[in-house]
Amino acid sequence: MPQVHLCEVGPRDGLQNAKHLMPTEAKKRWITALAEAGIREIEVGSFVPPKLIPAMADTGEIVEFSKRIPNLKVVALAPNLKGFQRAVEAGAHKVTFPVSASRAHSESNVRMTPEQMVEEVRKCSAWPHPGVEIEGAVSTAFGCTMQGNVPEDDVVRIAAQLASFCDAVALADTVGYANPAQVKRVFKKVLSAIGSKLEGAHFHDTRGLGLANALAAYEAGVRHFDSSMGGLGGCPFAPGASGNVITEDLVFMFESMGVATGISIEKLLLARKILVEAIPQEPIYGHTPVAGLPKGFRAAA
Ligand code: COA
Ligand code: ZN
Repeated sequence: MPQVHLCEVGPRDGLQNAKHLMPTEAKKRWITALAEAGIREIEVGSFVPPKLIPAMADTGEIVEFSKRIPNLKVVALAPNLKGFQRAVEAGAHKVTFPVSASRAHSESNVRMTPEQMVEEVRKCSAWPHPGVEIEGAVSTAFGCTMQGNVPEDDVVRIAAQLASFCDAVALADTVGYANPAQVKRVFKKVLSAIGSKLEGAHFHDTRGLGLANALAAYEAGVRHFDSSMGGLGGCPFAPGASGNVITEDLVFMFESMGVATGISIEKLLLARKILVEAIPQEPIYGHTPVAGLPKGFRAAA
C-alpha cells in the first residue's frame, strides 16, 4: 500500500508553460506510460479558453481517453463555472480550482479578486456534479512575484472558506518562494483550521527547494503531493514561475526513505522517454534520471 499519494501534474502544469506543443496522440501515450509506472492520479489538462492556452485545447478528448485507463483518477483544472461545466461533461473525476491568496496574481491569472474566485468556486460546488470531487488550491500561498509577501492569515482564511464547500484543499507554492520552515508553519496553521480537508501540497522548484519543501510538508503530516515529470511547469500568468518539483526525484526521495509511493522508477524513466520524444526541444530536468539509481538501491516495500 502506498504511504504517500502522488498526483502527476505534468500534462497540465507542465504543458501549459512549455514552449512546444505536445500533439494529442503523444499526450495519450505519455499519460498511459505514467499510469503504467504506477501513478494513480494525473492532472491531465485544464478547461480554459483555448485561445488563452492553446496547449490545453484538447483537454476534453484527453479526459475522455484517460478515463478509460483502469485505476486512474483523472483530474482537470478549471478557472470558472464554464470550465467546471466542461470538466463535468467530459467526466473528470476531480476538478481543481486555482484560488490565489495574492490579489495581484489572482487578477492576472483568472481576472477575479481572491474573494470573487472563492465565490466562483462556491457557485461551482452548488452546480450538479455527481461523483466529481472539487479541490480548492490556494495558489501563491507562500509568496508572489507580483505582490511579494502573502500574509499567512490570508492563506488560512481562504483555505477555511474553501473547506466549507470543497471536498479537499491544497496549498500551492506557485512561484517557488517557500522554504521548509515556512512550509511546516503554514501547513500546521491551515491544518489546525480545517483538519483533514487539507490534503495536497504543490511545490515549484524555482529556487531548488522543491524536495526540501515536500519533505517539510511530509513531516507536517501531508501525504498528497503534486509533481511534474522532468520538472516541467509554471503558471503563464505569474512572472518568474518555473517548473514543479520533479516526479522522478520525489519518487526516489520517498522510496529511498522507505516510504512507499506505489510507483516504479524504472517505468517512470520509460514515460520520460516518451515525453522527450514528443517535445525534444523542451528542456527537462531531474537528478535521478541523469545519475541513475544508487548501487544496491531498493524500493520501499
Ligand atoms: N473555457 C472555455 N471558454 C471560456 C471559459 C472556459 N473555462 N471561460 C470563459 N470562456 C470564454 C467565454 O465564453 C468568452 O467567449 P466569447 O468571447 O466567445 O464570448 C470568453 O472566453 C471570455 O469570457 P470571460 O468570462 O470574459 O473570461 P475572461 O476573459 O475574463 O477570462 C478566465 C477569465 C478565468 C476564463 C481566464 O482568465 C482563465 O482561463 N484563466 C486561467 C488561466 C490559467 O489556466 N492559469 C494557469 C493555471 S493556474
Ligand atoms: Zn503549479
